[in-house]
Amino acid sequence: MRIGIYAGSFDPLTNGHLDIFERANVICDKVIIAVAKNITKKTLFNIEERVEMIKECCGSVGNSEVTSFNGLLIDYCREKGVSVIIRGIRAIIDFDYEYAIALLNRRLLPEVETIFLVANSEYSFISSSMVKEVAGYGGDVSTLVPQFVNDTLAKKLFK
Ligand code: COA
Repeated sequence: MRIGIYAGSFDPLTNGHLDIFERANVICDKVIIAVAKNITKKTLFNIEERVEMIKECCGSVGNSEVTSFNGLLIDYCREKGVSVIIRGIRAIIDFDYEYAIALLNRRLLPEVETIFLVANSEYSFISSSMVKEVAGYGGDVSTLVPQFVNDTLAKKLFK
């Protein structure tokens, strides 16, 4: 069984992430979508909130598991029997960074392959930071994130 992992901070999940995740499910027999706990980014949503949003929006897609992890991604891959790391490339600007991480992860754990999926052009400009910024000023992000995330953002920012 080919198990893939789609890891990130997902603060919050966007339609761009969802698109990559759905397409990863076509390639892999199972996809783990994993929220990283230890990244240095200051987040708007805590781990539990991010996991809950992903479960709500992705839980019924393919054969999937929604989790969070601490430490190195490759250690988590080992623990979960993952053979494919899925990354989304939105534009050429993502490439250098992704290339370096893919090489680093392969050096650390050669049996795991990184696969890059090219983001749908409809979503290639979206980032979680932009979504938070627009939503924070009361802008409409309903076409950029799933409905549940849109509602959760509104509650978080304006409750
Ligand atoms: N659609 C929309 N947004 C996307 C996207 C897509 N398809 N692909 C990337 N993004 C956005 C993300 O929302 C994020 O936006 P933000 O910076 O505004 O929050 C940004 O692009 C960067 O995303 P990503 O590259 O996935 O980084 P991340 O910070 O979310 O997660 C980890 C990076 C967690 C996968 C990586 O740091 C990791 O593996 N950490 C564990 C520790 C480790 O193993 N380190 C060694 C390898 S560096």
